[in-house]
Amino acid sequence: MVNRSDVNYFGAGPAPLPTVVLEKASQVLLNYREKGIGLCEISHRSPEANEILAEAKQALSTLLEIPDDYDILFLQSGGSGEFSATVYNLVAIWVEKKRVKIAAEVGDDQEEVLKRLRKVVDEELKLDYLVTGSWSLKASQEAARLIGAQHVNVATDARKANGGKFGVIPPEDQWSLTPRTSGGGAALAYFCDNETVDGVEFPAFPKSLEGDDAPLVCADMSSNFISRKVDVRKYAVIFGGAQKNIGNTGIAIVIIRKSLLPPHSTPASPDLLRQLNLSVGPIVLDYPTIAKNNSLYNTLPIFDVWVAGQVMNGLVNTYGTKRIGGQQEISDEKASLIYDTLDKYSDIYRVVPDKTVRSRMNICFRVHGGDADKEKAFLAGAEKQGLLGLKGHRSVGGIRASNYNAVSLEGVRKLVAYLEDFTKS
Ligand SMILES: Cc1ncc(COP(=O)(O)O)c(C=O)c1O
Repeated sequence: MVNRSDVNYFGAGPAPLPTVVLEKASQVLLNYREKGIGLCEISHRSPEANEILAEAKQALSTLLEIPDDYDILFLQSGGSGEFSATVYNLVAIWVEKKRVKIAAEVGDDQEEVLKRLRKVVDEELKLDYLVTGSWSLKASQEAARLIGAQHVNVATDARKANGGKFGVIPPEDQWSLTPRTSGGGAALAYFCDNETVDGVEFPAFPKSLEGDDAPLVCADMSSNFISRKVDVRKYAVIFGGAQKNIGNTGIAIVIIRKSLLPPHSTPASPDLLRQLNLSVGPIVLDYPTIAKNNSLYNTLPIFDVWVAGQVMNGLVNTYGTKRIGGQQEISDEKASLIYDTLDKYSDIYRVVPDKTVRSRMNICFRVHGGDADKEKAFLAGAEKQGLLGLKGHRSVGGIRASNYNAVSLEGVRKLVAYLEDFTKS
């Protein structure tokens, strides 16, 4: 038998979880707080479940210093479901805003309102996507599938600036964002903060998405959630699947500006959306419904929320007043150790993305120029040392060391030692 302590796992997600959390999880699965029933058996509407939910929210708020005018939602959508949810929800808000404006000009003539609204939707509805890797590409494709490619503006496609492959973030002055106007501009601007497959991470929040008249910014933080400081106020929606830094597969977390929820914002009605030939989203992706029901519109997997809460509370306790800044220091240190070693042996290893956009979470590199046999030998040698999960994503190949929060400094040191040893083989 191989023991957990013999292995260091660098998989990209599902990813390692703290052993202490898993040990406790195995107990609460059998018997939660000595009630005689386990956590997967209790009602999601019980006081215990509500407490678990409140604690997880509190831990995330503490870590990221989430302002009071933001809400936290838990959904079962996975990260991919949020590709759709952001579109449904923010398009409905954009449409309703336009309807109200037109109605103020036209008055009670519903036919005329609809006629004008159709024209505005046809001509002005745009969603801006920064395509910097496989996941933002998928999100932009989903938007096109849901509302039509004519409404999706790919403001930048990083492949065009990098010989057809992801690995850079083109300079912002080369992006073609939808112009801002006093009446609106794009319904949303979307980016993926950390591209898991391609190892590309935004070094900072894009300058051109800042400002009072900025579009509603949606960011996918699935693979770098709670790994560095985030100025939440700059975002309308932040989302991520839990299964990398936060917990196990099963829930996605959404941080949403409350002004986008009722009573502050009302989305267009399903009837109106249908009349405009825009699709109506499933209720389980409807942010107002989920928010109104404290994420309990339908059966929420409370065990998954419990794991997330335990992981996040662990960080709260470990880093105290440094909050997520404490984790950021460790994440940066671990990433530097690996990148420094790869750079030191640049005749053997080649980091895939450009130096300016290297991900701290997913470190993608090639061995001996991508020689298939040598990369196979690299992986086999790593496995012998208990260094697992290093194979790159099937779409791009190569090696990928995922440096999530539960990967220990000691584990990274072992990987670094192996990187050194391999150069001598
Ligand atoms: C950045 C990013 N976004 C979205 C997803 C999709 O998440 P899910 O598989 O939960 O739908 C992933 C999955 O790895 C991801 O890495």
